[in-house]
Amino acid sequence: MAIDLSAKIPNNVDLDRDPKLRRALEAWQPKYVDWWKEVGPVGYQEKEIYLRTAIDVGSDGWAHFGYVRMPEYRWGIFLADGSPERKIGFGDVARDTVWQDVPGEHRASLRRLIVTQADTEPASVEQQRRLGAICPSLYDLRNLFQVNVEEGRHLWAMVYLLHRYFGKDGRDEGDALLERRAGDRDRPRILATFNDPVEDWLDFFMFTMFTDRDGKFQLLSLAESGFDPLARSAQFMLTEEAHHLFVGETGINRIVARSAELSRQDPNGEAMPHGGIDLPVVQRYLNLWFSSCLDLFGGEVSSNAAAYFSAGLKGRPNEAKFPDHVEKNEVRVLEVADDQDRLVKREVAARLAINEDTRDAYIRDCARAVERWNRSIESVGLPYRLTLPSRRFNRRIGEHAGHHFTPSGDPISAALFDQKRDEWLPSAADRTAVRALQQKPVTKPGAFASWIAPPARGIDGKPLDFEYVRFM
Ligand SMILES: [Fe+2]
Ligand SMILES: [Fe+2]
Repeated sequence: MAIDLSAKIPNNVDLDRDPKLRRALEAWQPKYVDWWKEVGPVGYQEKEIYLRTAIDVGSDGWAHFGYVRMPEYRWGIFLADGSPERKIGFGDVARDTVWQDVPGEHRASLRRLIVTQADTEPASVEQQRRLGAICPSLYDLRNLFQVNVEEGRHLWAMVYLLHRYFGKDGRDEGDALLERRAGDRDRPRILATFNDPVEDWLDFFMFTMFTDRDGKFQLLSLAESGFDPLARSAQFMLTEEAHHLFVGETGINRIVARSAELSRQDPNGEAMPHGGIDLPVVQRYLNLWFSSCLDLFGGEVSSNAAAYFSAGLKGRPNEAKFPDHVEKNEVRVLEVADDQDRLVKREVAARLAINEDTRDAYIRDCARAVERWNRSIESVGLPYRLTLPSRRFNRRIGEHAGHHFTPSGDPISAALFDQKRDEWLPSAADRTAVRALQQKPVTKPGAFASWIAPPARGIDGKPLDFEYVRFM
């Protein structure tokens, strides 16, 4: 029996008028649902979740709220409205008209960019799949699943581009995206952070704060692309990404607020004895996820990034705000460790350091959130402050990898780093302590786990004790 795709896959890409593409996606859809059931959220697949579904890109009401079982979620394909006359804003092709098709000479690069972005989407669903069993509230459980189904939709958005513009190669890539697995030794996801374990809800909020925020900046860079369908896909994905970032930033703020309140009342300034998470533990998780996510922007010196930029394939976040969109004659000064582990300045051509421009924008955005968390700590009169570590700290990729730095960015020996590791990064004891607080799910409407403050308001104007997940 033929599947009525126009009903099953909400879209604004005229799927009905392209039978070949429709058939290809029709063949991919059951594989996707199988993947979702196999490595998507554990449990809860038959429960009704109060989710929003994108049914249109229009400014009012692109998000439609209602109860839905996750395997029946209507994953759609949406491109933001665009203009075929849009001009490319950067590189050697600045001011050329955008492309509606893939230019032959950029086929391999664009395919690689799209596959790399696409791979992160199912990876995060796999990484977060066990968190339902230890959720701190129905509100948070629902937010986890909202993030998960939207990452699924982001995969759809990228697979649509692969199927539509890359023929057989694209269809093969679409299948491979369902075959790799986060953390799998033999078939890992492409980027390291997307193989890292997400074991508890502090990890989850750090992930949605820092890793989804990497996603935001990657999408902002792709939204500048000369390949117009990619740019318009990325633009619409950003509207969903905003919610993921909200979940992460406010989640950490709620943890921090609770920790600060409990620590202030304790004679030793500890939150753990009262069911909270100690602020230094929050700091160590922050150090881990922030440093891991800095790697996602690639090396400080990158000929790939330079080539993508020159060719108009991938720009920088909000490219229009940069003073120079060509970057042909400028230089950038990097601060790196030399072979004696002394910090030295090194000049590189600005085009080779494009990744640093994007990393700068990301770090500024993270710093703003940290300030907000610190205001929550300050408001209860506690002197403790959270900080972002240096961009050199704990890196696995780029100029700083292979060297060791303190969180403030001073070079140190490998031996000293190892000695200090448990002060700077989550220790086994930290993980055990966090897990001890998160052994059971909190599923009574309106109830919240001891280690996290309730949010300021509910979802979609609903009260905090709303049944965001139905247990019938
Ligand atoms: Fe995503
Ligand atoms: Fe996301």
